Amino acid sequence: MKKNILNILKSKGQKKLVATTAYTFSVAKLISDLDFDIILVGDSLGMVIKGENNTLNVTMQDMLYHSSIVSKANHNSFIVADMPFLSCDISIEQAVKNAGALIQKASVDAVKVEGGFSKVETIRRIVGAGIPVMGHLGLNPQKILKMGRYSVQGKTAKEEENLLEASKALVEAGVFVIVLECVPASLAKKITEAVNVPTIGIGAGIHCDGQILVSTDIFGLTDNTPPKFVKTYAKVGDLMKNALSEYKSEVLDGIFPNDKFSY
Ligand code: KIV
Repeated sequence: MKKNILNILKSKGQKKLVATTAYTFSVAKLISDLDFDIILVGDSLGMVIKGENNTLNVTMQDMLYHSSIVSKANHNSFIVADMPFLSCDISIEQAVKNAGALIQKASVDAVKVEGGFSKVETIRRIVGAGIPVMGHLGLNPQKILKMGRYSVQGKTAKEEENLLEASKALVEAGVFVIVLECVPASLAKKITEAVNVPTIGIGAGIHCDGQILVSTDIFGLTDNTPPKFVKTYAKVGDLMKNALSEYKSEVLDGIFPNDKFSY
């Protein structure tokens, strides 16, 4: 049965939430068939689909396109679409409009907003319009130009305090779940214990209420050396290369298509 926000909220302290990303029909269908709790149409698509170095090139148009494809494939999971770079920053009205477009045109169940205190009022207004918001604290990849590099956040006592307070502010603004990216496991534990909504970790240790990994990382489909927190569960890229190479050889050698594959 298709999951709704109550299933996600109720899981806290009961059952770990399992989430991953999808951008295409075939992969979204596999994830939904396996009854994952959440499918995120992440702006990571800038890197894993569009082949860019970061997520800043992702547009609302990209998010609407991929989210509607994923929605079509999905029957079981709760679908969240990322609010891409700048879609929340021009004005609160624009943010509500963009979030609404993802609901109305791409049939997602919720949106994800990166950021802490600076996003509180925006989140409050989106939630006020009836749109569930997933928060995203810790490493915020949309801030890469300001940060200079991707790194673990919340390592000093001051940063830790700031993230703890930001998580409470996001909950007060109405988020139903918080992604914690690249923070020490001890801090993720404190945040998880301090808030009454589920936390979902990525590079945030074992104590979160759930976990998310980018699906192409799970599949071993990325060329780059993945960060420490990524566990690659299969070498799908190698399997695909082998299949393509066998096909190529068979065509060149006149083996494919033989009678079995001909009319
Ligand atoms: O864009 C994305 O895929 C994400 C996850 C890494 C949480 O934000």
